[in-house]
Amino acid sequence: MKKLVFIDACVRQDGSRTRRIAEPVISALAVRYEVVRYDLTEMEGIVPLDPKLFGERGQGSIPSWAVNAARDIAAADRIVIAAPFWDMSFPAALKCFFEQTSLFDITFTDNGETCVGLCKAPKVLYITTRGMDIPTGDPREQATPYLRSLGSLWNLGELTVISAWNMDYSSAGEIEEKISTCIAEGQEIVRNW
Ligand SMILES: Cc1cc2nc3c(=O)[nH]c(=O)nc-3n(C[C@H](O)[C@H](O)[C@H](O)COP(=O)(O)O)c2cc1C
Repeated sequence: MKKLVFIDACVRQDGSRTRRIAEPVISALAVRYEVVRYDLTEMEGIVPLDPKLFGERGQGSIPSWAVNAARDIAAADRIVIAAPFWDMSFPAALKCFFEQTSLFDITFTDNGETCVGLCKAPKVLYITTRGMDIPTGDPREQATPYLRSLGSLWNLGELTVISAWNMDYSSAGEIEEKISTCIAEGQEIVRNW
Protein backbone atom coordinates (compact mmCIF):
# COMPACT_ATOMS: atom_id res chain seq x y z
CA MET A 1 0.00 0.00 0.00
CA LYS A 2 1.23 3.49 -0.79
CA LYS A 3 2.08 5.72 2.12
CA LEU A 4 0.51 9.05 3.11
CA VAL A 5 1.86 11.35 5.81
CA PHE A 6 -0.79 13.46 7.53
CA ILE A 7 0.57 16.46 9.44
CA ASP A 8 -2.12 17.84 11.72
CA ALA A 9 -1.35 21.26 13.18
CA CYS A 10 -4.90 21.98 14.36
CA VAL A 11 -4.13 23.43 17.77
CA ARG A 12 -7.80 23.68 18.76
CA GLN A 13 -7.97 19.91 18.28
CA ASP A 14 -11.56 18.65 18.15
CA GLY A 15 -12.88 22.24 18.22
CA SER A 16 -10.98 22.96 15.01
CA ARG A 17 -12.95 23.70 11.84
CA THR A 18 -9.87 22.84 9.82
CA ARG A 19 -9.68 19.41 11.42
CA ARG A 20 -13.39 18.86 10.74
CA ILE A 21 -12.63 19.30 7.04
CA ALA A 22 -9.46 17.21 7.13
CA GLU A 23 -10.76 14.14 8.97
CA PRO A 24 -13.31 12.92 6.37
CA VAL A 25 -10.78 13.63 3.62
CA ILE A 26 -8.19 11.51 5.44
CA SER A 27 -10.79 8.76 6.01
CA ALA A 28 -11.47 8.66 2.27
CA LEU A 29 -7.74 8.49 1.54
CA ALA A 30 -7.17 5.78 4.17
CA VAL A 31 -8.96 3.33 1.87
CA ARG A 32 -6.08 3.62 -0.60
CA TYR A 33 -3.14 4.77 1.52
CA GLU A 34 -1.40 3.68 4.67
CA VAL A 35 -1.78 6.85 6.76
CA VAL A 36 1.04 7.89 9.10
CA ARG A 37 -0.26 10.63 11.37
CA TYR A 38 1.74 13.39 12.98
CA ASP A 39 -0.62 15.17 15.37
CA LEU A 40 1.57 18.05 16.48
CA THR A 41 -0.60 18.82 19.50
CA GLU A 42 0.06 15.33 20.87
CA MET A 43 3.82 15.33 20.29
CA GLU A 44 6.63 16.35 22.58
CA GLY A 45 9.66 18.09 21.13
CA ILE A 46 7.83 20.38 18.72
CA VAL A 47 10.07 23.31 19.60
CA PRO A 48 12.32 25.65 17.62
CA LEU A 49 15.98 24.78 17.26
CA ASP A 50 17.64 26.44 20.26
CA PRO A 51 21.43 26.66 20.78
CA LYS A 52 21.48 23.26 22.54
CA LEU A 53 19.48 21.44 19.84
CA PHE A 54 21.41 23.23 17.12
CA GLY A 55 24.74 22.30 18.71
CA GLU A 56 23.68 18.68 19.11
CA ARG A 57 22.59 18.57 15.48
CA GLY A 58 26.06 19.78 14.49
CA GLN A 59 27.49 16.80 16.40
CA GLY A 60 25.18 14.43 14.51
CA SER A 61 22.77 13.96 17.41
CA ILE A 62 19.20 14.56 16.20
CA PRO A 63 16.02 13.64 18.13
CA SER A 64 14.91 10.22 16.94
CA TRP A 65 11.30 11.37 16.39
CA ALA A 66 12.56 14.04 13.97
CA VAL A 67 14.74 11.59 12.02
CA ASN A 68 11.83 9.13 11.79
CA ALA A 69 9.37 11.84 10.73
CA ALA A 70 11.81 13.17 8.11
CA ARG A 71 12.25 9.64 6.73
CA ASP A 72 8.47 9.19 6.62
CA ILE A 73 8.09 12.48 4.76
CA ALA A 74 10.87 11.62 2.30
CA ALA A 75 9.34 8.21 1.57
CA ALA A 76 5.70 9.35 1.43
CA ASP A 77 3.69 9.08 -1.77
CA ARG A 78 1.29 11.78 -0.61
CA ILE A 79 1.37 14.45 2.09
CA VAL A 80 -1.64 16.15 3.68
CA ILE A 81 -1.22 19.17 5.94
CA ALA A 82 -4.08 20.54 8.05
CA ALA A 83 -3.38 23.86 9.74
CA PRO A 84 -5.52 26.85 10.70
CA PHE A 85 -4.54 30.29 9.43
CA TRP A 86 -2.70 32.02 12.24
CA ASP A 87 -0.98 35.39 12.11
CA MET A 88 -1.34 35.43 8.31
CA SER A 89 0.36 32.04 8.00
CA PHE A 90 0.14 28.84 10.05
CA PRO A 91 0.79 28.02 13.72
CA ALA A 92 4.41 28.16 14.85
CA ALA A 93 4.18 24.50 15.87
CA LEU A 94 4.09 23.60 12.18
CA LYS A 95 7.17 25.71 11.44
CA CYS A 96 8.94 24.03 14.38
CA PHE A 97 7.98 20.64 12.95
CA PHE A 98 9.41 21.62 9.56
CA GLU A 99 12.53 23.08 11.17
CA GLN A 100 13.19 19.82 12.99
CA THR A 101 12.41 17.56 10.04
CA SER A 102 14.21 19.49 7.31
CA LEU A 103 17.26 17.28 7.56
CA PHE A 104 20.33 17.11 5.37
CA ASP A 105 20.57 13.84 3.46
CA ILE A 106 16.99 12.90 4.42
CA THR A 107 14.57 15.51 3.08
CA PHE A 108 17.19 17.34 1.02
CA THR A 109 20.86 17.26 0.15
CA ASP A 110 23.14 19.37 -2.05
CA ASN A 111 24.89 18.84 -5.36
CA GLY A 112 27.81 21.16 -4.69
CA GLU A 113 26.03 24.10 -6.28
CA THR A 114 22.65 24.20 -4.58
CA CYS A 115 20.18 22.23 -2.46
CA VAL A 116 18.37 19.29 -4.01
CA GLY A 117 15.23 17.70 -2.58
CA LEU A 118 15.12 14.03 -1.66
CA CYS A 119 11.36 13.65 -1.13
CA LYS A 120 9.22 11.93 -3.72
CA ALA A 121 5.57 12.83 -3.05
CA PRO A 122 4.22 14.21 -6.34
CA LYS A 123 1.14 15.63 -4.62
CA VAL A 124 0.57 17.62 -1.44
CA LEU A 125 -2.80 18.70 -0.05
CA TYR A 126 -3.05 21.66 2.31
CA ILE A 127 -6.29 22.19 4.22
CA THR A 128 -6.94 25.42 6.11
CA THR A 129 -9.58 27.81 7.40
CA ARG A 130 -9.08 31.56 7.79
CA GLY A 131 -10.84 34.00 10.06
CA MET A 132 -10.63 37.04 7.80
CA ASP A 133 -11.90 37.52 4.26
CA ILE A 134 -8.62 36.30 2.73
CA PRO A 135 -8.85 33.78 -0.10
CA THR A 136 -5.98 31.55 -1.20
CA GLY A 137 -3.56 33.56 -3.33
CA ASP A 138 -4.25 36.87 -1.57
CA PRO A 139 -0.85 38.54 -0.97
CA ARG A 140 -1.71 38.69 2.74
CA GLU A 141 -1.90 34.89 2.81
CA GLN A 142 1.61 33.69 3.55
CA ALA A 143 1.02 30.02 4.32
CA THR A 144 0.57 28.73 0.76
CA PRO A 145 3.67 30.50 -0.65
CA TYR A 146 5.76 29.10 2.21
CA LEU A 147 4.51 25.54 1.69
CA ARG A 148 5.18 25.83 -2.03
CA SER A 149 8.67 27.12 -1.31
CA LEU A 150 9.45 24.34 1.19
CA GLY A 151 8.15 21.91 -1.41
CA SER A 152 10.77 23.19 -3.84
CA LEU A 153 13.52 22.57 -1.25
CA TRP A 154 12.25 19.07 -0.47
CA ASN A 155 11.23 18.10 -4.04
CA LEU A 156 7.53 17.87 -3.30
CA GLY A 157 5.12 18.04 -6.21
CA GLU A 158 1.87 19.82 -6.98
CA LEU A 159 0.26 21.66 -4.05
CA THR A 160 -3.55 21.64 -3.86
CA VAL A 161 -5.26 23.92 -1.36
CA ILE A 162 -8.68 23.43 0.22
CA SER A 163 -9.65 26.53 2.17
CA ALA A 164 -12.55 28.35 3.72
CA TRP A 165 -12.30 31.98 4.70
CA ASN A 166 -14.12 34.78 6.52
CA MET A 167 -14.92 32.16 9.14
CA ASP A 168 -14.77 34.61 12.05
CA TYR A 169 -17.24 36.96 10.33
CA SER A 170 -19.81 34.43 9.13
CA SER A 171 -23.00 33.21 10.79
CA ALA A 172 -23.09 29.73 12.33
CA GLY A 173 -25.10 28.54 9.32
CA GLU A 174 -22.64 30.03 6.84
CA ILE A 175 -19.71 28.42 8.69
CA GLU A 176 -21.36 25.00 8.50
CA GLU A 177 -22.05 25.54 4.81
CA LYS A 178 -18.42 26.47 4.13
CA ILE A 179 -17.18 23.41 6.03
CA SER A 180 -19.55 21.14 4.08
CA THR A 181 -18.45 22.69 0.77
CA CYS A 182 -14.78 22.10 1.65
CA ILE A 183 -15.46 18.48 2.66
CA ALA A 184 -17.28 17.89 -0.65
CA GLU A 185 -14.41 19.56 -2.53
CA GLY A 186 -11.96 17.35 -0.66
CA GLN A 187 -13.90 14.17 -1.44
CA GLU A 188 -13.92 15.14 -5.11
CA ILE A 189 -10.19 15.91 -5.16
CA VAL A 190 -9.11 12.71 -3.43
CA ARG A 191 -11.19 10.42 -5.66
CA ASN A 192 -8.32 10.45 -8.18
CA TRP A 193 -5.55 11.67 -5.96
C1 LIG B 1 -3.88 32.54 17.52
C2 LIG B 1 -4.78 32.84 16.35
C3 LIG B 1 -4.30 33.62 15.33
C4 LIG B 1 -5.11 33.92 14.23
N1 LIG B 1 -4.62 34.72 13.24
C5 LIG B 1 -5.39 34.98 12.18
C6 LIG B 1 -4.92 35.81 11.13
O1 LIG B 1 -3.81 36.31 11.15
N2 LIG B 1 -5.73 36.03 10.06
C7 LIG B 1 -6.98 35.47 9.96
O2 LIG B 1 -7.63 35.64 8.93
N3 LIG B 1 -7.47 34.71 10.95
C8 LIG B 1 -6.72 34.45 12.05
N4 LIG B 1 -7.20 33.68 13.07
C9 LIG B 1 -8.55 33.11 12.93
C10 LIG B 1 -8.52 31.68 12.40
O3 LIG B 1 -7.82 31.60 11.19
C11 LIG B 1 -9.92 31.13 12.16
O4 LIG B 1 -10.71 31.25 13.31
C12 LIG B 1 -9.83 29.68 11.74
O5 LIG B 1 -11.09 29.22 11.27
C13 LIG B 1 -9.39 28.81 12.92
O6 LIG B 1 -9.24 27.50 12.49
P1 LIG B 1 -9.54 26.26 13.46
O7 LIG B 1 -11.03 26.29 13.78
O8 LIG B 1 -9.15 25.08 12.64
O9 LIG B 1 -8.72 26.44 14.69
C14 LIG B 1 -6.43 33.39 14.17
C15 LIG B 1 -6.89 32.59 15.22
C16 LIG B 1 -6.09 32.32 16.29
C17 LIG B 1 -6.63 31.47 17.42
